[in-house]
Amino acid sequence: MALPVASRTPAPPDPILGLAEAFRADTRPGKINLSSGVYVDDTGITPVLPSVLEAERRMLAAETTKLYRPIDGDAAYRAAVRDLIFTPEHEIVRSGRSATSHTPGGTGALRVAADFLIQEGANRTVWVSDPTWPNHPQIFGLAGFRVRPYPYVHPGERRVAIDAMLAALGGAEPGDLILLHGSCHNPTGVDPTADEWRRIGDAVEERDLLPLVDFAYQGFGDGLREDADWLGAIARPGRELLVASSFSKNFALYSERVGALTVVATDAAAATSAQSHIKVAIRANYSNPPSHGAEIVTTILGDPALRAQWEVELAGMRGRIHGNRRALVDALEARNVPGDWAPIGHQRGMFALLGLSKEQVARLRDELAVYVVGAGRINVAGLTKENLDPFADAVSTVIAN
Ligand code: LMR
Repeated sequence: MALPVASRTPAPPDPILGLAEAFRADTRPGKINLSSGVYVDDTGITPVLPSVLEAERRMLAAETTKLYRPIDGDAAYRAAVRDLIFTPEHEIVRSGRSATSHTPGGTGALRVAADFLIQEGANRTVWVSDPTWPNHPQIFGLAGFRVRPYPYVHPGERRVAIDAMLAALGGAEPGDLILLHGSCHNPTGVDPTADEWRRIGDAVEERDLLPLVDFAYQGFGDGLREDADWLGAIARPGRELLVASSFSKNFALYSERVGALTVVATDAAAATSAQSHIKVAIRANYSNPPSHGAEIVTTILGDPALRAQWEVELAGMRGRIHGNRRALVDALEARNVPGDWAPIGHQRGMFALLGLSKEQVARLRDELAVYVVGAGRINVAGLTKENLDPFADAVSTVIAN
């Protein structure tokens, strides 16, 4: 027997995707799934966007080959992603000091970033918000990083604990990696204000840290440009950074696994050089990217009418989530559930953190067939007219008793 001894004991299920599996296996009627961050409409369906269907129609008519794509993806896709993050007018784009690689999803981008940095001898410490997406410590830990937390939200209050965060970062070494959520923080839904971003940017510069911005929800907060409000603070003249993009949510392309890693260097030559090392990390990992999802994104972003249609569809998803936030606050307040729920109404993105204990989360699942993540992270997009009241009743039950 040569398999590692540890592999004979099953690994714990994934804290998010494992719940989706458990939900599928649950046969209780009226079960509610607010676990993984996927958009659903009011009928509980995750639809293919009409702009995506139109792009696919065009692609099918024009397709001639299934040849390998370049290691870092097609040039048109890479340029489209770069412009979506920064806008064509941004100094980073005009100077050519960024390079984008097509990766399988935002998760692929994070793993490629981690491999690239370890491979080239970067500091092996990454600072992540506490709390953060559970896959962050897993990705960086398995790639060989030491993962250190920085405080992120005031316990009980739903705002950024900026002083505590900056105090913790005071212990970072020059060159350490700092992972930031560009918008729609996962799991809290709490984003820094403009002034807080500025202070984070100052700390990054003073301590000479390398920021990696996880930008998985562009357009799900306040808008495509509004959600890039971290740019001014983090993407300062001459500063280096990395951006991991995902198009799972804003194009609803979950199963196509489409994302990108963008490196910003001091000048164009340094960006090209960094890109050549990123290509080594990609080649050693999955060789070259799957093309279908990226072609959809390129087709939509490259056609003004289709892009305008997609932006309307994205605004529709965003608007429904904002409406759900307000409806949830109303439902919890109407039941006098103890707690300060109002801030959930103006947070950003798919998630809200209810701040439940492990026991309360287990009771929701075991007694009431309601699936939420960790300390009560809910996918606000998963609330529908049908499940909102039963969900608020269930929260009220576990908090009150
Ligand atoms: C989430 O946080 O639920 C999503 O990003 C889906 C995932 O891969 O975990």
